[in-house]
Amino acid sequence: MTGGNETVISEFLLLGLPTEPEQHDFFYALFLVMYLTTVLGNLLIIALIRLDSHLHTPMYLFLSNLSFSDLCFSSVTMPKLLQNMQREVPSIPYAGCLAQMYFFLVFGDLESFLLVAMAYDRYVAICFPLHYTTIMSPKLCLFLVVLSWVLTTFHALLHTLLMAGLWFCADNVIPHFFCDMSALLKLACSDTRVNELVIFVMGGLILVLPFLLIITSYARIVSSILKVPSARGIRKAFSTCGSHLSVVSLFYGTIIGLYLCPSVNNSTVKETVMAMMYTVVTPMLNPFIYSLRNRDMKGALGRVFHKRKVIFSL
Ligand SMILES: *[C@@H]1O[C@H](CO)[C@@H](O)[C@H](O)[C@H]1NC(C)=O
Repeated sequence: MTGGNETVISEFLLLGLPTEPEQHDFFYALFLVMYLTTVLGNLLIIALIRLDSHLHTPMYLFLSNLSFSDLCFSSVTMPKLLQNMQREVPSIPYAGCLAQMYFFLVFGDLESFLLVAMAYDRYVAICFPLHYTTIMSPKLCLFLVVLSWVLTTFHALLHTLLMAGLWFCADNVIPHFFCDMSALLKLACSDTRVNELVIFVMGGLILVLPFLLIITSYARIVSSILKVPSARGIRKAFSTCGSHLSVVSLFYGTIIGLYLCPSVNNSTVKETVMAMMYTVVTPMLNPFIYSLRNRDMKGALGRVFHKRKVIFSL
């Protein structure tokens, strides 16, 4: 750059959470506990599904992928937040900021695509029970997972490259706890119209399309149950789909609430709290929603620990 007093930003300051100084320790402990719960809960699910051969079905393989994605999603933001809460100057280097944005998008999108795959799996299981094993073959499952990875990688790369093309010159204070795309765009000195257009179009495709697909598959499930109403069928459908629907509403509810509700005064605080919901609370709750209400998971926990006990006592 040739300007006299213009400099190129080499690092950003993440202001973090709008908390009072005396609440600092309380929030630090709270986030640490939440992060550890997320990591342990999701690792437990992945280990259980890996170790117990009863759970080697498409639904649980997708669930294991979802747990992996949750684990990574919260690891993109939480360790940096915890580190910055302990530091005098809560900074993040320019490259670190772009990397954080990239991985945030990858794992956020992956979650969205995996929820679609899981909804499709339940749709086939309930509407075509006799053809379930032929339709949801291991090949199709692998294809759906690989397709999700390819799409998310391209989407995240597109946004990150567009962001890397922007010029940041004066302001480097991000009023957020991670490198959020919209917060970064507000700081850019160059024209951001192309970025905003791409965010709008791709955001529509990546969030609205999966959401519609999920709604469609659950609507079909409900209509197929209502066609032949039997108490047993209804109970079975609700026990398998109930936990899926809670995860879907938790994930999309917060994102839709954040981006579609008109922001009134104090929008930074509201945005931060909502972002907290889907970056910290959702990944933490997913394992509990699935495992506490699920007989298969409890059975697997019993079997895995029982087997270990037998091996140790030999
Ligand atoms: C994700 O799903 C694929 C395909 O079903 C499966 O082969 C793989 O083991 C899963 N990955 C994890 C981490 O569970």
